[in-house]
Amino acid sequence: MFRLKNVTRRFGERVAVDNVTFDIPQGQMVGVIGRSGAGKSTMLRMINRLADPSEGTIHFNDIEVSSLRGSALRNWQRDCAMIFQQFNLVPRLDVLTNVMLGRLNHRSTILSLLSIFSNDERIMAIAALERLGIEQTALQPAGTLSGGQQQRVAIARALMQNPKMLLADEPIASLDPLNAKIVMDALRDINEREGITVVTNLHTLDTARAYCERIIGMSGGRVVFDGPSRELDAEAVRTIYGTGSDGAEIDERVTSTAIRNPARQDNEPDNDKESASPTPLALAGL
Ligand SMILES: Nc1ncnc2c1ncn2[C@@H]1O[C@H](COP(=O)(O)OP(=O)(O)OP(=O)(O)O)[C@@H](O)[C@H]1O
Ligand SMILES: [Mg+2]
Repeated sequence: MFRLKNVTRRFGERVAVDNVTFDIPQGQMVGVIGRSGAGKSTMLRMINRLADPSEGTIHFNDIEVSSLRGSALRNWQRDCAMIFQQFNLVPRLDVLTNVMLGRLNHRSTILSLLSIFSNDERIMAIAALERLGIEQTALQPAGTLSGGQQQRVAIARALMQNPKMLLADEPIASLDPLNAKIVMDALRDINEREGITVVTNLHTLDTARAYCERIIGMSGGRVVFDGPSRELDAEAVRTIYGTGSDGAEIDERVTSTAIRNPARQDNEPDNDKESASPTPLALAGL
């Protein structure tokens, strides 16, 4: 069981996440939706401690995640893998090496620095790539892959961590519809077959409804909807997204990422704050 209790995060005067409380049983697939600036990324980043709460506590079973330090914190970040909109691979390294970097938190820094991976780790990495249907790319530099393939590499890297939770921050926002489906199907498969809890920020309601048994809707840093996706009716959508300035119904396609960057192309780099998210090398302090 994972639990956020009265979690608040401030940036100066601004309250990004405002007194959020919820439980997630192990193995649930949860979609987090809301307008741009609602606090979705900040909340996800606090779960794996890329950001720290200003107030409140985060627990995973008996562990108080919000107070972990040093190696205990690194162990949590291993158990709680994260994937990002912009994939965060090391583009000049081949795909196989990128996937094996998922083992960094399992091994000593010196072995990692020397990039020495065992045969078992190579076999595990190839199996992860096979599972995601991209084993034929293993020796290509990651930067030469399409966006959909790169996101699958990022998922394979996350699987190498043997995580208990998988966090995804708008994993399909840079992808075309076909690649988006492949990536969401992969997340669902991991959730169903391994029982790994998946928490994913999404910017399209139809995707959240189709893939997530539970939806958390955020507005102004608060949770304003939390329930099964079948209960996400028009009124709930209005509560989460509000109405247009003329009071008209919100168009379901008009949600955070679409507003921020309507013309985004697959693979196009984006200079928003998510691109500054750490690579696994940075996470491992290398
Ligand atoms: N590092 C930071 N410093 C200052 N303010 C921040 C920082 N990170 C987030 N914020 C602010 O906190 C609020 C919530 O941001 P957050 O990125 O969590 O929203 P979001 O729901 O993920 O939005 P989007 O859909 O655009 O990704 C915003 O007002 C944002 O400007
Ligand atoms: Mg965000």
